[in-house]
Amino acid sequence: MLAIVLGTRPEIIKCSPVIHEARRRGLPFSIIHTGQHYTPELDELFFSELDLPQPTHNLHVGSRPPAKQVAAMLEGLCDVFDEVKPDVVMVQGDTNSVLAGSLCAHKMNIPVAHLEAGLRSDDWDMPEEGNRVLTGVVADYHFCPTELQRERLAQENISQGVHVVGNTIVDASLYYAGIARSQSQIRERLGISNQKHALLTMHRPSNVDEPARLSQIMSCLDTAAKQLDLRIIFPVHPRTENALKTANLWKKYENGSSFIFTKPIGYLDLLRLQVDAQLVLTDSGGIQEEANILRVPCVTLRANTERPETLEAGSSVLYSGVNPADLTRLAQEMMAKDRNWDCPFGDGKTAQRVIEILSKDL
Ligand code: UD1
Ligand code: UDP
Repeated sequence: MLAIVLGTRPEIIKCSPVIHEARRRGLPFSIIHTGQHYTPELDELFFSELDLPQPTHNLHVGSRPPAKQVAAMLEGLCDVFDEVKPDVVMVQGDTNSVLAGSLCAHKMNIPVAHLEAGLRSDDWDMPEEGNRVLTGVVADYHFCPTELQRERLAQENISQGVHVVGNTIVDASLYYAGIARSQSQIRERLGISNQKHALLTMHRPSNVDEPARLSQIMSCLDTAAKQLDLRIIFPVHPRTENALKTANLWKKYENGSSFIFTKPIGYLDLLRLQVDAQLVLTDSGGIQEEANILRVPCVTLRANTERPETLEAGSSVLYSGVNPADLTRLAQEMMAKDRNWDCPFGDGKTAQRVIEILSKDL
């Protein structure tokens, strides 16, 4: 029995190819949802859109201060693991749900498989960095997207159970982008069929939690978009919606600016907006990868990244400043590029490799 612990939007998306592959091969698995994300647009929407079976368990932990959130997940997962008796627990990425899943399995002597292992930003102000490192310490299978993570884990004295398999985001994004091109009507619904647009997503605490910084970023993006003659389509994460409202910026930018705000959108709509964009502006981990895979130039709104492959390939560039002239120049440079960069995250068969390796122990 494979127990797949997940809790947030990107985990649902990136676990989906593994779930489909396990189902295709008739392997027994359970999906255990921590409930870290619970708003339908961050949760249920993806189960239905990606045709996933409903979780067998949902802990409904919800939003809490991080330590309490992890503690509640540990408590709940312990009972579920007792009931399900998994041979292996799989976690994906770097969220609090990942830390709770890996730690709980470790404490119960259940082997841990970490999908997207070995990524490091070396930025310990990011809550995710601790989750990545701690999960690396307790994991038994480390499924790395590229050789870079194998090297990094070796530097941390982790060499057993390391497999370079690619990233399941390739499996998911290539498959669903094809469907999105023919099925998603989002551009028409937003009334931008004849306009050029950039896609913006932003939810990192370092960008949104401090009102003064958020205000400067929004102003910088607005001015740059006007200079570039682009509308900015901005599906707003709930954390960011709260932050924009607290900082009195929601009304200011909702109408009469370069932005078009939307609720968080489904995967097909997001992919359609991404493939049709002139430019992606993001602090999302998954979208940095997708922009590379889908060949859309990306400005990563951060000072560092745990996905340096995107910088090396030339599909992304980092920018954490708030100067509109600098951002405009970077955006122009990125948009002028030939989109023939390397795509280092695999061939779209990552889930097959993962299940092949895990199935020996299931
Ligand atoms: C979490 C992950 C982050 C990941 C992101 C994906 C951690 C530490 N962070 O960040 O790595 O990139 O998910 O989107 O695990 N909220 C809702 N509805 C929800 C969930 C959250 O309204 O379904 C609001 C709540 O006000 C909550 C805030 O968003 O306090 C932040 O949620 P949280 O899950 O703590 O972190 P994310 O910013 O979503
Ligand atoms: N995504 C989506 N709808 C949105 C925003 C993002 O489907 O409104 C998808 C996006 O395509 C990517 C994933 O969600 O596959 C990224 O999730 P997020 O940015 O929340 O988390 P991160 O990758 O930063 O951990």
